[in-house]
Order: sequence, then C-alpha cells, then structure tokens
Amino acid sequence: MLLVFGTRPEAIKMLPVAQALMRKSNADVRICVTAQHRQMLDQVLDLFDVWPDYDLDIMKQGQGLEHVTTAVLQGLGDVLDDAKPDRVLVHGDTTTTMAASLAAFYRKVPVAHVEAGLRSGDPAQPWPEEMNRRVTDVIADRFFAPTTRARDNLLKENASPAAIHVTGNTVIDALLAVVDRIDRSPDLKETLAAQFAFLAPDRPILLVTGHRRENFGKPFDSLCSAIRDLARAHQIQVVYPVHLNPNVQSAVRRFLGDVPHVHLVPPLDYLPFVYLMMRAHVVLTDSGGIQEEAPSLGKPVFVMRNVTERPEAVEAGTVKLVGTDRDRIFTAVGEVIEDADAHARMSQAHNPYGDGQAARRIADILTIGSTDEFSP
Ligand code: UD1
Ligand code: UDP
Repeated sequence: MLLVFGTRPEAIKMLPVAQALMRKSNADVRICVTAQHRQMLDQVLDLFDVWPDYDLDIMKQGQGLEHVTTAVLQGLGDVLDDAKPDRVLVHGDTTTTMAASLAAFYRKVPVAHVEAGLRSGDPAQPWPEEMNRRVTDVIADRFFAPTTRARDNLLKENASPAAIHVTGNTVIDALLAVVDRIDRSPDLKETLAAQFAFLAPDRPILLVTGHRRENFGKPFDSLCSAIRDLARAHQIQVVYPVHLNPNVQSAVRRFLGDVPHVHLVPPLDYLPFVYLMMRAHVVLTDSGGIQEEAPSLGKPVFVMRNVTERPEAVEAGTVKLVGTDRDRIFTAVGEVIEDADAHARMSQAHNPYGDGQAARRIADILTIGSTDEFSP
C-alpha cells in the first residue's frame, strides 16, 4: 500500500492512518510525500516522527495549479513503477490528491480515498478543492467517508454502497492524541505557556487563520479589515499564524502588520496550534480542518466562506458561516465577544466528525475486512 500526501492538513490527517497500518503485521506500508508544502509538511512529519520512503519535493514559491498537477503526475509515475503498490491511499481535496489519483489510474493501481464524499455543491467554492475531490471520487474504488452525510453524497453519485465505509474523520484522532498529550504533562503545558508568554493573560484570544485561493484579492482585503477593526473595537488579542502562501502574506502584513493587540506569527507546529485552540475564546477561519477540530474543543467558530462542505457543525450550532464581507464578520464575531450568552450557546462541545477511532477503523477495513462504522 502506498500512502500519498503533500500538504500540512493531509499529513495531519493521514499520519494516524499510516501509524495504524504500520501496526498491522500483514500490511506493507510505504509513504510518498509530494511536498506540495515543504516547511509546513515537515513540521507535521517531525511531530509524528514518521518519515517518507519517497519525497517528490515539488514545491516552488508562488506555485500555480498547473505546476503542482504536472509535477505530481510526472513524479508519481516513477514512484509507482518502483514501489509497485497493490493500492494507493490519498486524502481529501488538494491538487496532490487529485493528481496522485490520476497517476495511479494511469498505472492501473486502485485508489482508496480517505475523507471521501464531502461536497459543497459549488465547483467554484472551495476552489479548486471541490473539483479535486469530485475527480478523486470518480477514480477511487474505496471510500472512507467521515460522516453519513458524506456517504449519502457518494451514493447520490452512484458509488457502490459496499465500497463506502463511514469511519469518522482522522483529524479527530490526531487532535485527541495531542490534547491528551498536553493534558497529561504539566511540563509540556509550561513549555507551551512560555512559547506564548507574549499573550496577555487577561485578554480573550481571537485565533485566526485564512488561506483560501478563492478569497485572494478583494475578499482577503475585506476579511483583513474586519480583523483589524475587531482588534480596535474590543478588549481582545488576535493571534494569526500566517500561512506561507505569498498572496496571504502580502495582504495580511499590509492590513494587520502594525495593529495593537494583533500578533502575526509564522505557521505553528501542530502541538502549539492545538494548545492555542484550547486557549482561544473564539476562532475565525476559512480552514477545512479547523472547522472539524474546534467543535470538538467546544470553541465557537466563524467560517469565512459562503458555503461549506462540512455542514454538520453548522447544524449543531458551534460553527457559523460569515463569508468574507467586512461588516458581516465584524458584527457576528463582535456579538459573540461581547455577549456571554451568545458565546455560551456556541460553546457546546460536539463531535460530529469523529470519535478518535477513524484511523484504526480504516486499517481494520483494509487489512481484516472489518465492518465497524462510526456513528455520531
Ligand atoms: C494548499 C491546498 C489547499 C489546502 C492548503 C492547506 C491546493 C490547490 N491547495 O493550498 O487545498 O487547504 O494547501 O494549507 O492543493 N508555501 C511555502 N511553504 C510551505 C507551504 C506553502 O513557502 O510549507 C508557499 C509557497 O510559496 C507555495 C505557496 O505557499 O507556492 C502555495 O502553496 P500551495 O500548496 O500551492 O497552496 P496553498 O494555498 O498552501
Ligand atoms: N494548523 C497548524 N498550524 C497552524 C495552523 C493550522 O498545525 O499554524 C493545523 C490545524 O489544526 C488543522 C490543519 O492545520 O489541523 C489545517 O490546515 P489548513 O488550514 O492549512 O488547511 P485546510 O484544512 O483548510 O485544508
């Protein structure tokens, strides 16, 4: 079996699967990273202490989608010829995922898709991820759907019911393992607190991340203005680990580079990032993974998108979609910062996305044909 991934979120979500498979004596597990991300991928490999057998090392500064697609397609062909896997496992919806699936198809190697079946219904949002995941599901012959809703989406597209397994999302496995590690170790907590000694103990934290391609340009300027004005209007502090994409860096530095109580920091290792989520009062993000993690921690999440392929936490009340309009973000987030009841209503912990057993289920299904499923 060859696991292929290339970006930070894929690594966070696939390494629990790699570890669960490596515990099986009958599984020959190999890992190929495309390194669509370099530093942000290596941060995760370090934490899990799992090292790839193949590294395509494709990342270029400011890369376009054509570069990522063709470099993965070309590089993976050679890896497949060398590794001769009986199956390729891909994750989610990045361009690595789509191009790796196509490369496997060209070599007639079957593909299993982890986090299959998510759909926003709009090919332009998130872009290009909605199309990446649809293409991947046309190619795949086994589907690890995180939720029953994802399974239903696949069934509507005529996937074979026997090929779909509802497992929960492996991001919850990663999250719970890290939370447990932090909770168990007072020394680790102290080290993490020291890393964030620049934060005022008495100011609530608004934790922000943002990187979506479809928001580049005006929408990004608009959401940055909302963050700047929130920091000026409320007794809060903003922490924003800024994604390394140059389009993100330039807008964020222009609007937020010199605003009191706004801390721009480099992308954080997963462990300190989880610690910061645990300390956050409110989360404002356009990330897919954080939409899944924050509800487990009982944190109110405002999502800077117009549509989401992850509706479960919106229905549970912990996630609200606010788009990218400055006034809408400013009003919605401001209300929850000022109104304790509104904050409490959005702070109920929910686990619609998983129970921490997803990777084990996937490994059991692939190696012993288990039929154990996740039910929220
Ligand atoms: C990619 C995925 C997106 C996913 C996101 C997670 C695609 C098209 N996009 O978007 O689905 O949500 O990752 O973060 O697959 N860079 C670095 N170092 C890094 C990572 C990125 O310098 O470790 C910079 C480089 O200049 C790179 C640029 O960011 O060219 C963009 O990276 P890319 O992977 O193409 O797009 P993301 O916006 O990161
Ligand atoms: N994350 C991290 N460090 C950061 C910001 C995010 O480790 O500085 C983690 C976060 O907890 C989540 C994942 O990265 O598990 C989300 O990645 P990203 O937002 O880049 O991608 P998306 O989920 O939108 O595809």
